[in-house]
Amino acid sequence: MNNISTVAEKPKIYWEPNEYHHVPYQIYSDGGIYEEEQKRLFRGPVWQFVGLDMEVPNPGDFKTTWIGDTPILLIRDETGALNAFVNRCAHRGTTLCFEAYGNKPVLSCVYHNWCFDLQGNLQSVAFQHGIRKQGGLPKDFCFKDHGLTRLRVAQVRNLVFATFSDETPPIEEFLGETMVSHMNRIFNRPMKILGTYSQYMHNNWKLYMENVKDSYHASLLHLFFTTFRLNRLSMEGGLLLDDSGGHHISYSKVKTDSSQDTEYETGQLRAQQDDFTLADRRLLRTFPEFEDGITHAIQGIFPTMVVQQIQNSLAVRQLVPRGPGECELFWTILGYEDDTPDQTDMRLKQSNLIGPAGLVSMEDGIIGSLVQRAIDCDSDKSTVLEMGGHSVENQKSRVSEASVRGFWKAYRTHMDL
Ligand code: FES
Ligand SMILES: [Fe+2]
Repeated sequence: MNNISTVAEKPKIYWEPNEYHHVPYQIYSDGGIYEEEQKRLFRGPVWQFVGLDMEVPNPGDFKTTWIGDTPILLIRDETGALNAFVNRCAHRGTTLCFEAYGNKPVLSCVYHNWCFDLQGNLQSVAFQHGIRKQGGLPKDFCFKDHGLTRLRVAQVRNLVFATFSDETPPIEEFLGETMVSHMNRIFNRPMKILGTYSQYMHNNWKLYMENVKDSYHASLLHLFFTTFRLNRLSMEGGLLLDDSGGHHISYSKVKTDSSQDTEYETGQLRAQQDDFTLADRRLLRTFPEFEDGITHAIQGIFPTMVVQQIQNSLAVRQLVPRGPGECELFWTILGYEDDTPDQTDMRLKQSNLIGPAGLVSMEDGIIGSLVQRAIDCDSDKSTVLEMGGHSVENQKSRVSEASVRGFWKAYRTHMDL
């Protein structure tokens, strides 16, 4: 018999060392790179966002999700603790929970009915002792050795993260002070989920994360933003990066006023296209929310998470790769428990405007595939990321690609490329 096991070779890639302002097209389509990402990023020493604690409020409540290609089960046990497991039976590998959300007192597998408790321990095996002293498990079978594959779990406010690796530093260290304080700013009191949906994209997952970190495109690709002055690069704002470069916050300020006579209320906001007005002006109603006056803050957490404040539209987004050329983005739309019905209404209208069925994320959803379809044929060529220079550091201007370069700095570090 041939020995078919081989030592995996590192994918060959032509990339100048420490260069972050050019990215080889190969990185967006190479199957070997994708495999390596599963090992080094998604199952490596990196925290991965898996959900919000209020998605699973009670013992037995679970949510199914993914970290990279790996199916994950987030479940609350009887003690109130959150546990994360690979969503796979320890017997022959069947998916344990199929639903997006649910509640189970015990995790039983549909195939042969092995049962696991909410801490992932194997509790019982059907026909363990066989029938009439025939069959069954051997006497030395150890239940303790056949629990579910468990991940480490950490939480910042409502945000739950998991990691496969024992090497991953504590979550606060991984995120850095600036990122944690921004999470504290948004998740500053009890929140509630207003809705969820997902958006499927025909592009490599990194093209979407670049888009999130690219403040330069916002007023160019998203003409609605500029036409109605919701976000222009001339507004006060900037970019904040963590030390690794992988996390960022892009922020800006637009004046908001809840009175009936604001420019938004009257729909007078127009750019050059003077004939553009809104038929229903309620779409743009906003209310002032944060004392620091910041009205737009997009936080990108390496590798695949986004915390969104676009005026009063609050959301978290979790990106899941679906192979080298596809990905799926899961949105959770948020409000505060103490919101008035009118505030909830404004948040929902703004979220519809921002979401993929509206006028902003629809464009972010297609732009990645417009890149992907044009670059796959030329893997030896590369992108240009020189807006704002070549550095990876905080910027006072959003006319910069520093946070995109930061993503590649962290990526190269983790991937050892
Ligand atoms: S695969 Fe789950 S019990 Fe057999
Ligand atoms: Fe965008």
